[in-house]
Amino acid sequence: MASLGAPAAVSVFRGRDDLDEAAAEQIADLAGTAIERSGRFTWVLSGGSTPRPVYARLASEQMAGRVEWSRVHFFWVDERCVPPEDAESNYRAARETLLDGVNPPAANVHRIRGEDQPEQAAAAYEQLLHEFFQVGWDAPPPRFDLVLLGMGADGHTASLFPGTPHLLETRRWVVANPAGDTIRSRVTMTPVIINAAANVTFIVAGSSKAARLSEVLRGEPRGTPWPVQLIKPVDGQLRWMVDADAAAKLEGAR
Ligand code: 6PG
Repeated sequence: MASLGAPAAVSVFRGRDDLDEAAAEQIADLAGTAIERSGRFTWVLSGGSTPRPVYARLASEQMAGRVEWSRVHFFWVDERCVPPEDAESNYRAARETLLDGVNPPAANVHRIRGEDQPEQAAAAYEQLLHEFFQVGWDAPPPRFDLVLLGMGADGHTASLFPGTPHLLETRRWVVANPAGDTIRSRVTMTPVIINAAANVTFIVAGSSKAARLSEVLRGEPRGTPWPVQLIKPVDGQLRWMVDADAAAKLEGAR
């Protein structure tokens, strides 16, 4: 593993397996620390395919005992507007790879209702967050212990796609946002709440992401930042965990 240092902590792993293992270990460690400190771990899960093997590893026989799952609260950074049993559902992916294996109390699983009308689902999720963290409507955003994120080859993260509304949202924590060049909306957390987290970790793998990842991490001046570049925790730790294929165009990674 090579450490590339500032501006965020960037760790490059030889292969998918090493990346998955390190990501799972890091999540288990953060959970342990948060549970020891506050009695619970508030974890925002990423959608997409990249984290699935990481979830599966956490649920594996070797690792499941590392985390006190009854004290973990699961949230989602975004959801496709489909029912929870749909093959596209981020909730379903996490249920199949992680939740069914570690069996947390149902009350700890806080999914976005992708089956509802998008604006309504976004408003309901924001309301759920206010209630869970017991904060009023004028309060600053709550501090999740960990937000896990992925990156698309187009520089999107969560469901914050280039050129869509809400990238510069300053107030709402959860919105309905169009998905890229389709008119179909997804429900997504905004940078307002993601950037309040104590830890934000990107997991990125595969050569299709290499070019964009190097542009993003070089932070080169550009008219409009890529959506991933809007993720800058105010007072939290930003980490990039990437495999060698995704890191192929990063300086110092070879
Ligand atoms: C989603 C996401 C999205 C994802 C990236 C990367 O719901 O799809 O939250 O932001 O993380 O598109 O997706 P892959 O991991 O499938 O490459």
